[in-house]
Amino acid sequence: MLDKTKSMSEYEKPLVEEPELSYTLPSYLYTDVDVYEHEKERIFYRTWQMVAHQGTFQKAGDYCTVQICDQNLFVMMGSDQQLRGFYNVCQHRAHELLPPGTGNVGSLVVCPYHAWAYKTEGALHGAPRSSNRPGFDKADYSLKEVRLEVFLNCVFINLDDDATPLSEQAADLEADIRERVPYFDELKAPTLGMLGDGHINAGWKVVVDNYVECYHCDHAHHDFANIISMDTYQQDTFGLWARQIGGDIRQDNTAYELDDDAPVMQSLFWFLWPNMTFNILPGSQEMNFSVIRPLTIDTCDFSGQSLSVTGVFDERRANYTIDVLMPEDIALCESVQRGLKSKGYTQGPMIVDPERSGRGEHAIHHFHRLVQKALKA
Ligand code: FES
Ligand SMILES: [Fe+2]
Repeated sequence: MLDKTKSMSEYEKPLVEEPELSYTLPSYLYTDVDVYEHEKERIFYRTWQMVAHQGTFQKAGDYCTVQICDQNLFVMMGSDQQLRGFYNVCQHRAHELLPPGTGNVGSLVVCPYHAWAYKTEGALHGAPRSSNRPGFDKADYSLKEVRLEVFLNCVFINLDDDATPLSEQAADLEADIRERVPYFDELKAPTLGMLGDGHINAGWKVVVDNYVECYHCDHAHHDFANIISMDTYQQDTFGLWARQIGGDIRQDNTAYELDDDAPVMQSLFWFLWPNMTFNILPGSQEMNFSVIRPLTIDTCDFSGQSLSVTGVFDERRANYTIDVLMPEDIALCESVQRGLKSKGYTQGPMIVDPERSGRGEHAIHHFHRLVQKALKA
């Protein structure tokens, strides 16, 4: 059994402020189910979680469900055109109200079990035969609402009523993305795209570890390292986020064909604590918004939406990311998750160069420090 107060923050080998002296989080933090329970409360039930791009919600009754660990929720546009987030649970006998995914309920959310009906703003509209119950007051049975914020055109929710707004926590991220993506507000038509959706037999931290470093890119992503120059790759960390910038794009490359007049000639990847990514690859003006959703201590799903300025998606790039790049990373992550269970491994060193180059692992250190701090809090 874990000693939660000690083992969450003090490790055999140090994870300290200096990345070049630090070791990784110890492997039990990636394998112990108690740790996952801890992470739910300390991380996922108190951080801002992306649900969908705001373009997903156009008219009253439009909804999108989201799974945050054990909690199922949905965001809906009310008849007053306001977006609200609710736990996806009926106040009568706890049946889930909406099936997974997106859709439109019309004017009422009707529970599939006994047909209690809720308005799109969350108030109970009607409950069959409830007049038989003395003192029954519909006002006592509104849906349970959660915090909601639109940030970077995306709808986020937070289960913690006291959470600091994301616009305050990550104002510098918003400024950075808007500066580097001048077409950001022109991105439209959210759809599945670029990175696709999928399941990974690895925990969410393994997937983030893999996402935030490109130490592995030369060796494990030959085509990626062929289209994007690793020699000038940049990797920087900030408060709650990290950024990778790849330039010197090779027109004649092995990853995918680029048009001669391709407007985007760099790659940009942003990671927002704890589990969201914004992704741009060279080519046409598209952006992918993706989230890594923990399922258990050692499995997760990833899902996202891609948007483009023209409404058209570059299939060549999508095919490369879905058929080559993602499978390469998924295989790496799944092997690491198996390795983390090995009695032959506990912690590894961070490999960080003084220049903080794009081949260094300083962003893993940044992420591990955020995990360490969150679990200690
Ligand atoms: S559980 Fe929803 S109406 Fe009974
Ligand atoms: Fe990778």
